[in-house]
Amino acid sequence: MVWDLKISNGTVVSGSEMFQANVYIKDGAIGAITNETLEEEASETIDATGKHVLPGLIDTHIHSRDPGPTYKEDFAHSTRAAAAGGITTVFEMPNTTPPVNNAANFDLQKENLSQKAYVDFGLWAICIGPLNNANIKELNAKGVIGFKFFWGYAVHKETYQLMYNYKPGMENVIPPFDDGDVYEMMEEVEKTGKLFAVHAESSELIQKLTDRVEKQGGSSYEDLLEGRPNLAEVLTVAKGIEMAKASGVRFHVLHVSTKEAVDTIRDVQKQGYPITVETCPHYMFLSNEDYEQIGPQMKVYPPVKYKKDQVGIWEGIADGTISHVCSDHAPHTEEEKDGDLWSIPAGMCGVESMASLMLNAVNDGKLSIKDLVRLLSEEPAKLFGIYPKKGAIRVSTDADITIVDMEKEMVIKRENLHSKSKVTAFDGFKVKGVPTHTIVRGKIIMKDGNIIGEKGTGELVISGSNKAGVVS
Ligand code: NCD
Ligand code: ZN
Repeated sequence: MVWDLKISNGTVVSGSEMFQANVYIKDGAIGAITNETLEEEASETIDATGKHVLPGLIDTHIHSRDPGPTYKEDFAHSTRAAAAGGITTVFEMPNTTPPVNNAANFDLQKENLSQKAYVDFGLWAICIGPLNNANIKELNAKGVIGFKFFWGYAVHKETYQLMYNYKPGMENVIPPFDDGDVYEMMEEVEKTGKLFAVHAESSELIQKLTDRVEKQGGSSYEDLLEGRPNLAEVLTVAKGIEMAKASGVRFHVLHVSTKEAVDTIRDVQKQGYPITVETCPHYMFLSNEDYEQIGPQMKVYPPVKYKKDQVGIWEGIADGTISHVCSDHAPHTEEEKDGDLWSIPAGMCGVESMASLMLNAVNDGKLSIKDLVRLLSEEPAKLFGIYPKKGAIRVSTDADITIVDMEKEMVIKRENLHSKSKVTAFDGFKVKGVPTHTIVRGKIIMKDGNIIGEKGTGELVISGSNKAGVVS
């Protein structure tokens, strides 16, 4: 037998172990992990001496706008950016036009994205209350990764595009759902055993406070935080937790931004409830103090909060309250981001810079490389029911591998990003620790920063439908 690929002499890392080994790959799967040199030849060899060999990194939260406002981003661009940044699997958010709201649109989206994908992908389904409660079951059967609810957002009646800066009375919008609607959605999703994942910000509170600040003529970042305070997040998180306890649904808080929410979730986890939470690099590495230098590009919902929140989030990472880190890659064009803080849309690119920022944090001593593997690969794979097919370097699992050079330094530059939009809060950030190879099911997609894989290589990843969230 001839191996397809050999990764020689690297340090293989999992969430709990680190050891020197050669990794042999055949037909897209891992065939052997050994500190010996096998007799059979390999068609291709990567010398990973001095490098770390990680299970392929997973970004569970990206918005590629495809189909829909593809002038901002599309799936070919976002998955090239993912590959460039060492990500082997992405989970695509469902706020597309059409959204992934029923089985037919799931099939259309699978077909659409399969033609463009440079890396593997899972599909989130959207929850739009009475408009698709009847479709939750069929979406689950299709293998969606989880169910996303944009709590507090109004959506456009026809396109389902999010209204970033909703005001009551706007035409052609479905206003934010009420608590009864939310509870009903939870009941439906509970039957699937999959995650009910929410963007947690209280629209009632935000409307009131934003209105007040706007009338006072406020337009600074501090004013934005006053209109969209920490309370908006923790209020919705606390309410969601109680509703989740009652409905039994697996409740997941997306992109947490406050210490208060992390502390609340820690407490409820201690009581044994299956409540989980993720965060993103912008909440880990930025605070309101950075706004002056970065400017409106930094506007994201929930907004980046205060230094004490950054500290609280790191505490949540350290003690395991926070399950994983994802990018919330949410591109808008430079022009769209170039207005006043109130009216511009929220969101920025992130899929390409996430791994490097995290590797840099390892070099800074903020976490270990095993922690990084846990946060960017193992835990997401487990949480979403695709482990150990993804998230592990183990014989017979998918040969998804990210090789990283912990000594390599790089400056994150907007013009080097592979996404359509170059909007990032991290332009000019110096990092030490860079992915050098992105390998998806044995195929090298990125090598030394260059994309050498092909469009359409990525395949849909299916999440199992049994209650334990394990692949069936
Ligand atoms: C996201 C987007 O633009 O799709 N924006 C954001 O600020 N995070 C929506 C979202 O995740 O809330
Ligand atoms: Zn969100």
